[in-house]
Amino acid sequence: MLILGIESSCDETAAAVVVGGTRVLSDVVASQIAVHSPYGGVVPELASRKHVEGILPVIEEALAGAGVGLTDVDAVAVTQGPGLVGALLVGLSAAKAISYALGIPLIPVNHLEGHMCAAFLGGDPLDRPFVCLVVSGGHTAIYLVEPEGESRCLGTTRDDAAGEAFDKVAKLLDLGYPGGVVIDRLSAEGNPQAFDFPKAFLEKDSLDFSFSGVKTAVAHFVTRHGPPSSARRSGSYRVEDLAASFQEAIVEVLVQKTMAAALRHSVKDVALAGGVAANRRLRERFREEAAYRGFTLHVPPARLCTDNAVMIAAAGYRAWKRNGFCRAPAELDARSRWL
Ligand code: KG4
Ligand code: ZN
Repeated sequence: MLILGIESSCDETAAAVVVGGTRVLSDVVASQIAVHSPYGGVVPELASRKHVEGILPVIEEALAGAGVGLTDVDAVAVTQGPGLVGALLVGLSAAKAISYALGIPLIPVNHLEGHMCAAFLGGDPLDRPFVCLVVSGGHTAIYLVEPEGESRCLGTTRDDAAGEAFDKVAKLLDLGYPGGVVIDRLSAEGNPQAFDFPKAFLEKDSLDFSFSGVKTAVAHFVTRHGPPSSARRSGSYRVEDLAASFQEAIVEVLVQKTMAAALRHSVKDVALAGGVAANRRLRERFREEAAYRGFTLHVPPARLCTDNAVMIAAAGYRAWKRNGFCRAPAELDARSRWL
């Protein structure tokens, strides 16, 4: 089963060819970071235009990289949502055209399910129910995943996604975009205990998240102590300490809630997915806590944590195994929200 995966939900145009759900023949990602960087965040209109420019070359590169032609493809899997509608429509239209022209199945994929499926690509067997934290720029949620079946959301964010909090704080501190990567890098030189930012655990037993409070706390800190540019001159605080302390407040909540979910549902495997899963401190803390509690941890390589089309092809394969091919209708539409 050779699946062409296509992803265009946000600011990466991606295509990949994957055989049997796990054997990756090609993995092409055209990033739009340079386009959005001056604005400190993704500009939806620019994203759509860049996807239009990039989609066909990216698909052609993925096919060439895999050493296959379009006629070798058995099915097309494409992100239907959630995401930016204008961006999603570009990938969806390309996938529909290929499916229609070749008379092959079109498999609509939930982007979050795609992120979860990256857990199956790490190489370790994952054939029991597991708890997966999907933590990205648009979403932060904990799922209970049945290897052959559906997944169930156990908790989600009530305001910002964790990646969104990283990006907004980086913008506030004038550190550049995407913020998560910069804060990760600065934090490596900082003291995570330097400042005590609020960790929102919410009500007892809640598996939901809230990250707007910690973001506001950083804003108040900057109002009181000045921006990083003046702190660097005056030495009033170290930007690295500020970044590390903010990062620690987010990481600790993510780790503790995911471990609590795994204990509550008596699973033995825990997985980490989504762009923020590339964060080094998050990976380190997950490794420590999983080892301490006797869980097996599954973390995809960083490249498969951020948006890509390999995970979409993998999710398409799982959908096929589960449901067979129900050929998606031609009027299939993009979904901006889809839990
Ligand atoms: O999964 P993704 O590529 O796109 C969405 O579906 O949102 O995730 C992008 C997010 C951004 O918010 C980015 O700042 C964050 O992932 N991110 C990181 C790191 N690398 C990417 N956050 C923290 N540490 C990182 N190393
Ligand atoms: Zn994503």
